[in-house]
Amino acid sequence: MHRLPASDSRFPDGFLWGAATAAHQIEGDNTDSDWWEWEQAGHGAHPSLRAADSWNRWAEDIAVAKELGLGVVRISVEWARIEPKRGAWDYKALEHYADVLRGVRSAGLKTMVVLWHFTNPAWFAAQGGWTSVGAPGLFGMYSGVVAEYLCDYVDFWATINEANTYALKGYVEGVWPPGRTRDVLGALRVYRGLADGHRLARTAIKQACGERAEVGLTHVFAWPHAATEGGALSAPMQVLWNWLANDLFMDKVQGVTDWIGVQYYHDSPCRTFGVADGDGLTPRTDTGWRIVPEGLYRVIMRAWHRYQLPIYVTENGLADATDAQRERFIVDHLRWLRKAIRDGADVRGYLHWSLIDNFEWAAGFGPRFGLAEVDYRTFSRQVRPSARAFARIVAANEVAPDAAAGMTYADGTGPLGPEE
Ligand code: BGC
Repeated sequence: MHRLPASDSRFPDGFLWGAATAAHQIEGDNTDSDWWEWEQAGHGAHPSLRAADSWNRWAEDIAVAKELGLGVVRISVEWARIEPKRGAWDYKALEHYADVLRGVRSAGLKTMVVLWHFTNPAWFAAQGGWTSVGAPGLFGMYSGVVAEYLCDYVDFWATINEANTYALKGYVEGVWPPGRTRDVLGALRVYRGLADGHRLARTAIKQACGERAEVGLTHVFAWPHAATEGGALSAPMQVLWNWLANDLFMDKVQGVTDWIGVQYYHDSPCRTFGVADGDGLTPRTDTGWRIVPEGLYRVIMRAWHRYQLPIYVTENGLADATDAQRERFIVDHLRWLRKAIRDGADVRGYLHWSLIDNFEWAAGFGPRFGLAEVDYRTFSRQVRPSARAFARIVAANEVAPDAAAGMTYADGTGPLGPEE
């Protein structure tokens, strides 16, 4: 484990810096997936169509990562492309991903591959998706086929991304496919299916690639805490939220994961009844999410104490079309991350969400999460100024004491780093 002196603003040697993407959000034309069907039926702000056209322009994405001096790129591979019909494997799609990963490696970066990032093959969804009894086995089989093909090009495997977000959006809120509302039983079945799927996928990857393959999963961790207004009696709500959003799923995979991908975007202020996103005065992102960098520290420390496993921060970022807040946001979050390392957590990397602007699910193309801006008419990529600031941090392996000096959030507050 890495230890750092308290006064040192550097990150541990070998700390991994990167950026993340996901197949459906960037590739375009993911026609055999349940998300494509959902969009074509008129759901969400826009259909994904060509997305960021990364299926064709992946080399430009890698060039962005290289230009920023990153050490790792995270992609996901698309199950609906690899197994467009049950049991029919598309080796051309696998070869495409092999090309991409070879491209990342030859640019001198490491690769992180996620096997499932919210989208399902349409045939899988039609037979009940993750609530069906056979789902974990089917996912295990798919994972084995992918692993056999891609082993040589993958440094970090992650099986599934954010079981909690998927269960919430697809089975409780109904804003993502399959569009169920208040189906709590369905959401619990999804947790079970994804946890079992993770376990089988990990076994399949290790069988194909060897025991030493590093297989983790990524999860967005909530930080429930008392809301400024009306939060005095929120302790039971905090316990409930921690259980629902964090422990209920993550405890199921305890003992069967090699590392944990911690993802964090915003906190969850609790009242006596409910979680109050609108609580209090705090800077906000373009999507209205609260900017509370301390939460990154809180979720890392909790995950570390509970699971004692290596942690990579595999997503953290914001929608910021004008790029006015991103540099401040990154610097403040990294200062809290560094404090977590100083306080004993074994955090080995930070991957920003996202490498490029992309299709933000039900919100469509409005929110701009990219280190590079995408022009959706020409599909050109342009590195944002905040990304250059991030690149300087990466190059120095340090958040210098004067980083983002004088910069505030849009509402005039900040910095929001820890007391050093
Ligand atoms: C997801 C991404 C998403 C991001 C921003 C995460 O929940 O993994 O797919 O784009 O957050 O909402």
